[in-house]
Amino acid sequence: MAKLALKGGSREAENLRKIVPPWPIYDGEDERAVVEVVRSRRWCRLYAGSKAEVFEEMFAEYHQAKYGVAVANGTVALELALKTVGVGIGDEVIVPAVTFIATASAVSEVGAIPIFADIDPETAAISAKSIEENITDKTKAVIGVHYAGYPINFDEVLPLIKKYNLFLIEDCAHAHGSEWRGRKVGAIGHMGGFSLQESKSLTAGEGGIVLTNSDELAEKARLIHNIGRVLGKPGYMHYILSSNYRLSEIQAGLLISQMRRLKEQVELKHETGEYLASKLRKIGGVEPLKKDERITKRGYYYFVIRYRSEELQNVSREKFVAALNAEGVPAGVGYGMPLYRQPAFKRENLKGVFPEDWGIPKYENLSLPGAEEYCRREVTLPHQILLGGKESADLIVAAIEKIKENVDELLS
Ligand SMILES: Cc1ncc(COP(=O)(O)O)c(C=O)c1O
Repeated sequence: MAKLALKGGSREAENLRKIVPPWPIYDGEDERAVVEVVRSRRWCRLYAGSKAEVFEEMFAEYHQAKYGVAVANGTVALELALKTVGVGIGDEVIVPAVTFIATASAVSEVGAIPIFADIDPETAAISAKSIEENITDKTKAVIGVHYAGYPINFDEVLPLIKKYNLFLIEDCAHAHGSEWRGRKVGAIGHMGGFSLQESKSLTAGEGGIVLTNSDELAEKARLIHNIGRVLGKPGYMHYILSSNYRLSEIQAGLLISQMRRLKEQVELKHETGEYLASKLRKIGGVEPLKKDERITKRGYYYFVIRYRSEELQNVSREKFVAALNAEGVPAGVGYGMPLYRQPAFKRENLKGVFPEDWGIPKYENLSLPGAEEYCRREVTLPHQILLGGKESADLIVAAIEKIKENVDELLS
């Protein structure tokens, strides 16, 4: 009789759905926070003492940053950061080959050219060596993505930023709460952009925030995000031409309320993640991201498992994920491919995005070894699964052990 759920057996991790709270989490106080803003009739931040301002201060403080500028989503957070540091038409910005497309599309949206650097397949973080190989006299900035919440190697990247006089923008969409050597991400580089979209560790459905420690960059970002107006000065005086990136007060009210849980959730996910990683390392074939003592806190968007089919009788990653899903573990494959393989980077689809004579890289010919290897092996679990604590980690481990023990059933 079959043992694996995929072949008709019982589900090993059936109880996960009972232990792991549905995401996003809310309670009566969150509901009241939204209703309070609705009843106040102050739905836009253009008032003194706005909710957006309160949220900016709370979030910046938690991330050990001096300033926060709340925006409509994580994509425009990156656009705002790029514009603020002065990235513009024809500049090159180095981005990692494995990330969500917004990391690269934010670059093209400000008229600059995304250049893909390879990643380290053991950490999913941008490779400093590859950054350096891709620097030209047009390079203006690097976007370091703390992919899955795993911080980039600041010890290697920051000296390059300094040496070549570049800007470092941190893409922290996955990394609420992550720390490098005791310092929260977001304002270790010049600016950091967070997403507050529904699947993220802090959310109001949509939303974003930019952090910085620079007085000058904060002031400039505020101006750019408010269509050239100075916050707090009423009326129609616009000092520069720019767009409207503002977050609504309804979202800001909800975010303030959601902030009650962030610290505790980050701690719990960190602990569960460490526990799960240590258990997985003993099974074989399912490696977590490499342990690095400099990462003093791991925020999570994904818990990543690097699947080694060679240790499970060459059962494909896709079949392994299907078997995990059948056991009740909601595993996925991240974004599925290096970014340069997306249709958006095909020659014909780049027409109209960049001028014809710009000599845009032939993205579709790229094959970066670290990115290729990482994407072949990547299996992802959503961050909220870690809120189930050790009990949820034990169920995931049991499901994987069961698949490994009965891997013969997956050979046919
Ligand atoms: C790495 C990364 N950067 C940027 C974004 C963009 O954020 P948003 O969806 O809020 O625009 C995301 C969203 O998933 C992301 O994962």
